[in-house]
Amino acid sequence: MKTTMKLTLGIETSCDETAASVVRWGREVLSNVVSSQVDIHQRFGGVVPEIASRKHIEWILPVIDQALAEAGVDLQDIDIVAATYGPGLVGGLLVGLAAGKSLAFADNKPFVGVNHIEGHIYANVLAHPDIEPPVVCLTVSGGHTDLLYMPQLGTYDILGRTRDDAAGEAFDKIARVLGLPYPGGPQIAKLAEHGDKYAVPMPRGMADAHSFEFSFSGLKTAALNYINGVRQRGQELPLADFAASFQWAIVDILTQKTLAAAVQDRVDQILLAGGVGANNAFRTHLSREAVKHGIAVFYPPLALCTDNAAMIASAGYFRYLAGRRDPWDLNALPGLRLGDD
Ligand code: KG4
Ligand code: ZN
Repeated sequence: MKTTMKLTLGIETSCDETAASVVRWGREVLSNVVSSQVDIHQRFGGVVPEIASRKHIEWILPVIDQALAEAGVDLQDIDIVAATYGPGLVGGLLVGLAAGKSLAFADNKPFVGVNHIEGHIYANVLAHPDIEPPVVCLTVSGGHTDLLYMPQLGTYDILGRTRDDAAGEAFDKIARVLGLPYPGGPQIAKLAEHGDKYAVPMPRGMADAHSFEFSFSGLKTAALNYINGVRQRGQELPLADFAASFQWAIVDILTQKTLAAAVQDRVDQILLAGGVGANNAFRTHLSREAVKHGIAVFYPPLALCTDNAAMIASAGYFRYLAGRRDPWDLNALPGLRLGDD
């Protein structure tokens, strides 16, 4: 038994990215390999689970090999193996989980299952050594929108989550209606750059200032009705203005609630995590508003913001330090939520 557990191999396969990474001491990224299936799924307008599972099976071992090679280490040098076990698409999760457990079992290494959403939060830990809890964290992507208070790293008090769609899901669905390729968030963000965000009024879900719950289904319906109305009248959709207004509706409500939570909980740091956290307009607006309250906003660099395995290795390492070990029969949990494990 080694006394120093230095190197973690992280594995991520919850959606359409096959990813592996080696991280030292939970904070230093030695390699971060992401093999994206976006091109394959794009023609279907979204991720096709069955195709995703098959691609994960094809790519998982080469991706792990590449992560080890780029880190300049052998499998024998790895101290801890960590893999995402939920939430996500069950077929994909099973591939990464089976790979991780097998590698750990074969070499008698400890195995840790990681909650994907917690992984997104640890992308910030990787990027910013100066984070000092308590903090408020908003983690927002294609599958979830969670606002939480973290009294310390690894402890999550859920303040609110979405009651229906995740914010990223709303971006993706409306982009699809507009005929834009998957994933829709970056596409709408690009169109929005040249638009007027006040041009098309859009509703805010759960706008009550005292609630930290979110809802994006009303916004989605309003956006759909607007698009259909314009099309029925035979008019041309003002794409840039519409994209800017739609994006602003999401950015505005996410900012309002995150900031209200930070002020209420008297924290001076906010963490932004998950794919929608890659949105530039959101990062800029939240940072500008927060600074007025003396609050700093942290977000990961783009490569760590969307799905990757470095964040899984980091979260796995800190779970290990907290005493977590998982058995060989750990199963994939597609509906796992933050705080449930
Ligand atoms: O975290 P992530 O890579 O995967 C999940 O865990 O879901 O997030 C993907 C989501 C997608 O819905 C995508 O459209 C959205 O994040 N996204 C963005 C941007 N980049 C990715 N949404 C808005 N603006 C962006 N720049
Ligand atoms: Zn994710």
